[in-house]
Amino acid sequence: MTLQTIAFEKREQLKQKPNSDQLGFGKYFTDHMFLMDYDEQKDWHNPRIVPYQSISVDPSAMIFHYGQTVFEGLKAYRTEDDQILLFRPENNMKRLNQSSKRMSIPEIDEEEVLHYLQQLIAIEQDWVPSAEGTSLYIRPVVIATDPNLSVEPSKTYTFMIILSPVGSYYPQGIKPVSIRVEQQYTRAVKGGTGTAKTAANYSGAYKAQEKATEQGLSQVLWLDGIEKKYIEEVGSMNVFFKIDGEVITPELNGSILEGITRKSTIELLNHWGIPVKEQKISMAELHAYYHNGKLEEAFGTGTAAVISPIGELIWENEKLVINEGQIGEVAKKLYDTITGIQTGKVKDRYGWTV
Ligand code: COI
Repeated sequence: MTLQTIAFEKREQLKQKPNSDQLGFGKYFTDHMFLMDYDEQKDWHNPRIVPYQSISVDPSAMIFHYGQTVFEGLKAYRTEDDQILLFRPENNMKRLNQSSKRMSIPEIDEEEVLHYLQQLIAIEQDWVPSAEGTSLYIRPVVIATDPNLSVEPSKTYTFMIILSPVGSYYPQGIKPVSIRVEQQYTRAVKGGTGTAKTAANYSGAYKAQEKATEQGLSQVLWLDGIEKKYIEEVGSMNVFFKIDGEVITPELNGSILEGITRKSTIELLNHWGIPVKEQKISMAELHAYYHNGKLEEAFGTGTAAVISPIGELIWENEKLVINEGQIGEVAKKLYDTITGIQTGKVKDRYGWTV
């Protein structure tokens, strides 16, 4: 790793911080942000921390036209003894580069950028909230900036990290959600961009989400794009099922995002001796397990919610109520353990926190 000198321009008038009960998700941003530029001669250069502000990008910039962009999401947590912890951040840096490779964006130096992120968080440490369930959400993003409408990879990019204090995902306590099994739209196909954290995977999902919302449901369950048979993800999360004592999650098949909470969930289950398998599972199989009384739990995993229990699945006009609509034992234990490690309340015996 070669560390470049990082310039720091301090904001003169610091912002007023919101109360922790007002936070919500991604509504407020801290006083400073990190920026770095790329061009072919200088590679990634000019790392700097500057006051949070609008950036100037040409209307013809490639990001606006062909969506050449990647992002990440991770959180910083304040412990009871006022330390600030990041959860497995090196995994986010690695995934950022995997996404960049898929989107023909030049890779960053993972260690170097993690170091810059730590510097930014040190400067913004007062913005890491302390109330139960709150955290500082970290959003690294790379955008293509060439002012050029050619359909080809940009030659210039900007990398940014912005920070947002966020509220508890479950202000009323963790609550199982109702899910619509989506039969028409597809999130991703093998060979496509589903494994990359890139903008269009998320905006392309809005249409299906709209239909779920119209029916008063929270999210959609995504099936594979080719046969519309195999389960892939839930909303913007990975998905797990507990079937007859064994936990199953769809295998990484070239269209599923490699979640860091997914990976942590698998590692914890292995550590606890609860059988866990990554394999294909179809909606028809799940339906049969349900009717045999073997479907014991279902839940999503992601950075934002950590663990999101599924209370009901609506499939072809049938409502499958899972675990009487209550959070299951395994989901609860995972939630308590992962959030406990993240906030320093549970001993981190895996070396996950930084
Ligand atoms: C997650 O953290 O689970 C997500 O992927 C959602 C994020 C894009 C807001």
